[in-house]
Amino acid sequence: MKTFSRTISYTLLDYEELDSTEKILVEKAIEVRQNAQAPYSHYKVGAAVLSAQGAIHQGCNVENANWTATLHAEHNAIGNMVAVHGAWTKIKKIAIVAAPEEITAVMIPERLPVDLYTFEEIPVPCGHCLQVIWENCLNDRKVELFSVFREKFIAKIVIGDALPFKFGPKDLGIQHS
Ligand code: THU
Ligand code: ZN
Repeated sequence: MKTFSRTISYTLLDYEELDSTEKILVEKAIEVRQNAQAPYSHYKVGAAVLSAQGAIHQGCNVENANWTATLHAEHNAIGNMVAVHGAWTKIKKIAIVAAPEEITAVMIPERLPVDLYTFEEIPVPCGHCLQVIWENCLNDRKVELFSVFREKFIAKIVIGDALPFKFGPKDLGIQHS
């Protein structure tokens, strides 16, 4: 028997440490979260995807009385990206803002406490959305995911760490580029 292990990591950032495109991406995710239709979970999610073409596509969660029809924010944003740029558009970066609906004020820039250690509380996309994100990363494990948490901190994680084990087109002998 042999056990294999590998380290995964995330980076905590101040809003001010984002570059100008990343700032816009996070703001677009905050903006679209306001439109979420979440009368059942009362949990609102906004997502903004930066495509390889340099355009930003937004999505929010959309709930229905038929619960299984729920559209997740990330999936919605990627659907919008594909609708504009076509099949196998590559994701460059993605930002998500996920929080209970009563949290309305996010992103008041503030200095990071240096000892903030909080792996468990960073909202990451669900397994379904990680899969959907991965399939439009076109095998690039370094695609960055930004997640706002505790209303003002930002965690940066690469898709290869957020979804270390993967099923994808490769398993079907297919490569999209
Ligand atoms: N939700 C998303 O939009 N993305 C995820 O990856 C996790 C969950 C939504 C679905 C539902 O409307 C609400 O959050 C609670 O699960
Ligand atoms: Zn999801």
